[in-house]
Amino acid sequence: PVLVVDYGAQYAQLIARRVREASVYSEIVPHSMPVDQMLAKDPAAIILSGGPSSVYEDGAPATDPALFETGVPVLGICYGFQSMARALGGEVARTGTREYGGTVVDVPGGSGSQLLAGSPERQTVWMSHGDSVHAAPEGFDVLATSEGSPVAAFEDRRRRLYGMQWHPEVKHSVLGQEALERFLYDGAGLRPEWTPGNVIAEQVEAIRAAVGGDRVICGLSGGVDSSVAAALVHKAVGDQLTCVFVDHGLLRAGEAEQVEQDFVAATGVNLKVVDASETFLAALAGVTDPEAKRKIIGREFIRTFEKAAREVVAQADAEGTTTGEVKYLVQGTLYPDVVESGGGEGAANIKSHHNVGGLPDDLQFDLIEPLRTLFKDEVRAVGLELGVPEGIVWRQPFPGPGLGIRIIGEVTHERLEILRAADAIAREELTRAGLDRDIWQCPVVLLADVHSVGVQGDGRTYGHPIVLRPVSSEDAMTADWSRVPYEVLATISNRITNTVPEVNRVVLDVTSKPPGTIEWE
Ligand code: XMP
Repeated sequence: PVLVVDYGAQYAQLIARRVREASVYSEIVPHSMPVDQMLAKDPAAIILSGGPSSVYEDGAPATDPALFETGVPVLGICYGFQSMARALGGEVARTGTREYGGTVVDVPGGSGSQLLAGSPERQTVWMSHGDSVHAAPEGFDVLATSEGSPVAAFEDRRRRLYGMQWHPEVKHSVLGQEALERFLYDGAGLRPEWTPGNVIAEQVEAIRAAVGGDRVICGLSGGVDSSVAAALVHKAVGDQLTCVFVDHGLLRAGEAEQVEQDFVAATGVNLKVVDASETFLAALAGVTDPEAKRKIIGREFIRTFEKAAREVVAQADAEGTTTGEVKYLVQGTLYPDVVESGGGEGAANIKSHHNVGGLPDDLQFDLIEPLRTLFKDEVRAVGLELGVPEGIVWRQPFPGPGLGIRIIGEVTHERLEILRAADAIAREELTRAGLDRDIWQCPVVLLADVHSVGVQGDGRTYGHPIVLRPVSSEDAMTADWSRVPYEVLATISNRITNTVPEVNRVVLDVTSKPPGTIEWE
């Protein structure tokens, strides 16, 4: 892999993404990792990320000079660039002038270099730094300068060491991706071979080797991650896999069918559908507190799933198809989850699965997490390659507790029917308007305990409001309300109030996150 050494900036993930966009596999490692451990990963190249520290601060992460003696090509970015300059005997100083944001750099004769081959003499890049490199270490050619950075980029082609003060991973650096690719392809001699097809082939082999003849189960939620994980494991071990889909009665219209029909038709997996809606609704009766609802739903989910798993075992025993025991559970954990939960080192990265509302720690299964090296868009690419239906691959996020946390008030059959009808109309119209990829997701919320007066036909009505909550977001950590065209909103509102008799008002939520969360509960 290409190792991206994380110096604590928010940029390490972005750098890893950009490397993969160049079709080269990358992994993030902490800056505290000793050089020999990095070498044990057999890195094809190493990239030192930016970071929030000054190289002069006490406790600022240093770079072991031994790293530059290994023969592995290294690219230093921002803090990583300065740290590299310092470790090799260059001069880093505080200029007092910070460069932040779009900055012009001069690349005199830059096109003659390897890192900036073909670059124009002046270009706009994205900077964010206080210290700068004033003198390059011996053996390095200076490739670029800016007002605040006498040495803004350098390279030593003989030792294959490169560095730049600006952030090539940020889109505002106009030729950033090109510079990264020059480093990867020309500097490190890598080929663009990290493709969905290769990922699948590699994973299939690894899963087969791990599972042998044992039986595997997978909790399928209908979302992108669990669906693609299931499809991948199914490709590897076929009918040794059984997927369990729990219908908790809090699904949207058509969801259970999409999993039962489309997914099974496309992949041919063994699917066990458990209709537990009555159990869930009984457990939710009379409950209005959001956290109480979430806990009940999570608890019932686990119970249902474990029971289904035991039934799968019993059936396997009865059929004598495999060794009987279910030894493995498939999880759709993604790389950002791995990085955020502590860096992906070591084997026992067991993580409660958000899709299933948190499985217990004493679960009697080993985990198979075939997506744990992938970012979301790579998961989608793998899904498409595996033939997972587009309707599932491009699905917007939907919370595990489902409509249970979109009915403000007690959850009942009748209220679920009302919300399902309104939600189906909103989704249909947003899709028809071609907005699915612009909108992150659009919760539709029923204010079940609120009544408002309306007039329909000649009569007075006393119905409920429905809230539309379309949001745009990168990662659901922050969000803004989507500026859905008025005509689309008008159509949704008209259709809902005309066809769902219990609803006489449709309102739009125009709150960003923060302060509002995306879901209402
Ligand atoms: P909030 O409401 O916290 O939502 O802004 C952020 C994102 O997470 C989704 N969400 C959940 N997903 N189980 C899930 O699988 C949950 O319990 C859950 N709660 C919220 C929400 O839809 C949004 O995408």
